[in-house]
Amino acid sequence: MKILITGAAGQVGWELQRYLSESRLASEVIAVSRLELDVTNYQLVQETLSQHKPDWVINTAAYTAVDRAEDDKNLAHAINSDAVGRLAAVCKKINSRLLHISTDYVFDGNSSSSYVPTDSTNPINIYGKSKLAGELQILHTLGQDTLIIRTGWVYSAHGQNFVKTMLRLMSERQKIQVIDDQVGSPTWAGELARVICLAVEKDARGLFHWTDAGVASWYDFANAILRNSRRLNILKDEIDIIPISTDEYPTKAQRPKNSVMCKRSIRSALDYRGRHWRETLKDMLMDVQNGVS
Ligand SMILES: NC(=O)c1ccc[n+]([C@@H]2O[C@H](COP(=O)([O-])OP(=O)(O)OC[C@H]3O[C@@H](n4cnc5c(N)ncnc54)[C@H](OP(=O)(O)O)[C@@H]3O)[C@@H](O)[C@H]2O)c1
Repeated sequence: MKILITGAAGQVGWELQRYLSESRLASEVIAVSRLELDVTNYQLVQETLSQHKPDWVINTAAYTAVDRAEDDKNLAHAINSDAVGRLAAVCKKINSRLLHISTDYVFDGNSSSSYVPTDSTNPINIYGKSKLAGELQILHTLGQDTLIIRTGWVYSAHGQNFVKTMLRLMSERQKIQVIDDQVGSPTWAGELARVICLAVEKDARGLFHWTDAGVASWYDFANAILRNSRRLNILKDEIDIIPISTDEYPTKAQRPKNSVMCKRSIRSALDYRGRHWRETLKDMLMDVQNGVS
């Protein structure tokens, strides 16, 4: 099987390459970063895909700077929506399957229960709106052949994310403040890579939700990062973590209060339950300890 990965230098793209290099799923992996394949360059997309004719295109390329997107609407839509529609059209033309990654930010976060894939969407920031528009482009073009996996709170030893920011702040300060009224499910990109490969292997179709198991606030997550990092000697000192509300930490883009997503349908489609976020966090921190970056 031949797999082409877009956005290959990002967290998910990078973990996917690592997972594929250790699995027997693909005989050939073409991993292209933004520098090699800017997905907004339609002619290059057409040429690259037509040249390689991959069995699967896994689109991990995205405009992911959530706050910056508020002032950069056109570029966010160009990458997260227009380019996604184009990718879907080219995949259809050359008979490649497309697996696309989307986000919990398509929801407003006001639900009191976990979100199922059929729940109504209502994004509350530009990033979420652009990602939802990308989903709709795929559904319109690929219909029954659509494969979209929504995820959230993604982190890896490679790239920038909440865990890496916490490790830096915790090594510099004696006290930090962390939001405790937004909840979600921290998701290690290494485990997401495994799920992407399972979906490819099973030739899955549909709109799914995937995160690691369990629920946490950012405050809970920060406490687990501190505790495990001290156990692994990544951090030496105890520090104070102070819980604060979203109102006490204003950001340009609004974030959903509830990002918890129901995994029932993907667990059944892939016959895989996944692991608790507290377990996968340990794997990522082992990477950090081993100098993976
Ligand atoms: N991170 C999260 O918490 C999270 C949560 C929910 C869903 N997701 C989704 O998961 C997927 C992977 O995200 P991630 O966490 O791996 O993000 P990431 O680390 O920011 O990676 C995204 C990659 O896309 C690349 N990219 C940006 N514009 C591009 C373009 N025009 N053409 C080609 N590549 C381009 C970026 O390159 P540059 O860095 O060079 O710009 C980056 O390497 C995305 O679809 C994202 O929306 C992420």
